[in-house]
Amino acid sequence: MAASHPPHSSLPAASVADARTALLKRAARDAMDYLEGVNARPVAPIAQAIAALSALRGPLPPGPTSPETVLHLLHEIGSPATVAKTTGRYFGFVTGDCLPAALAASWLVSAWDQNAAHHVQSPVAAQLEETAIDWVRELFGLPEGTGGAVVTGATMANFSGLAAARHTLFERAGWDVEADGLFGAPPITVVVGEEVHQSVIKALGLLGMGRKRVVQVPVDGQGRMRADAVPHLDGMTILCLQAGNVNTGAFDPAAAICPVARAAGAWIHVDGAFGLWAAASPEYCKLTRGFEQADSWATDGHKWPNIGYDCGIALVRDIKALRAAMSIQAAYLVHAETRDPSNYNPELSRRARGVELWAGLRSLGRQGMAAIVERTSSHARRFAAGLKAAGFEVLNDVVINQVLVSFGDAEKTLRVIARLQADGTCWCGSTVWQGQTAMRISVSSWVTSNEDVERSLAAMIKAAKE
Ligand SMILES: Cc1ncc(COP(=O)(O)O)c(C=O)c1O
Repeated sequence: MAASHPPHSSLPAASVADARTALLKRAARDAMDYLEGVNARPVAPIAQAIAALSALRGPLPPGPTSPETVLHLLHEIGSPATVAKTTGRYFGFVTGDCLPAALAASWLVSAWDQNAAHHVQSPVAAQLEETAIDWVRELFGLPEGTGGAVVTGATMANFSGLAAARHTLFERAGWDVEADGLFGAPPITVVVGEEVHQSVIKALGLLGMGRKRVVQVPVDGQGRMRADAVPHLDGMTILCLQAGNVNTGAFDPAAAICPVARAAGAWIHVDGAFGLWAAASPEYCKLTRGFEQADSWATDGHKWPNIGYDCGIALVRDIKALRAAMSIQAAYLVHAETRDPSNYNPELSRRARGVELWAGLRSLGRQGMAAIVERTSSHARRFAAGLKAAGFEVLNDVVINQVLVSFGDAEKTLRVIARLQADGTCWCGSTVWQGQTAMRISVSSWVTSNEDVERSLAAMIKAAKE
């Protein structure tokens, strides 16, 4: 590759701008080339592509490398070693794709290179983030006045909601946890379901509330917290509910639990990383009934809404509590009359990731979001029906976009998953559901078509019958 000019060169400004324009055009071509070609290759990268990554290792070169060479290395060696999650046939974890509007917005955001810490550093980032948070609030049917933060994912959204909860409970007890920490603080009880997502547990650990100091409530066969087993709650309790179990997609019975928890004065936090988006659909919104009574909510933009990585949203009913937990002051940090993101999220300097959220939601509208929920859930039902008809056991009630299937004992199921992954038509991972090894199918991408489902189903059945 011929080197044009190193980034520190003393070329005239016009030449630097021309070279940058040429580079960006090439990057756009490479990106389009990737997206157009990715459908023809296996979903998981092949072993040679992963082995070739070693060419990107090695010591930092003493001198500069031209930007063209850097881009060439990324596309030639990096692109084949990606997981082809944009194909519509990636069903691992809970993984959305990236909507065109969100992807294009992300390119523009990178060109803007805004620091979304303060309004004064980026009025556009601050305003779009605030608007997008309010759109999410509206879609979820949450009370007016609820505010929040755009963070990296549901793990940080859980962290942020629980930080607001921690602030409020300690404040009630006359304890300033932000100032004085947890040494000698009065106790708080945290109640979770046995099927709590581990990101909530991690967040509790980060907040000094202990990964193990939780009271676990038994769950039913779908992973839903049993309302009749919720222990005594009071004003020093945080109750963590779940909207959408990562394996089964099941929702805790919020309509039964929340009124009791509210009457007891407990803080209710909801981990709704993907499930809360069901609220956008007239067909599925009944599943989210009751969760609006909570005090804080965590969700992801990069899962069901297909905003692309990374994007999480924390919402808090009493926005003053989130601000108290997160605010930052220094003489050089001039806060605006308007909302400064850094007062509501765990970071100071940060990417303007709220812009992609705004762009994706704006392009979808309420109906577009509902359509993703309904289409992916209908695909999930088709997978379940097809696998059952082929003689395999579906372990969960398919209420939204998640399917758990067993192909026999653990060894056989894991063998089928390995064969399917090697075949490359689609990609599914494994889990253990209430003692039984299963394959997880999470249909979360807006691009998954009926044809993708039929091709993938055929590949699953072939892998299982081989
Ligand atoms: C229910 C639930 N909570 C939290 C998370 C963590 O989300 P993230 O990986 O975006 O931090 C997930 C991820 O799948 C999830 O399903």
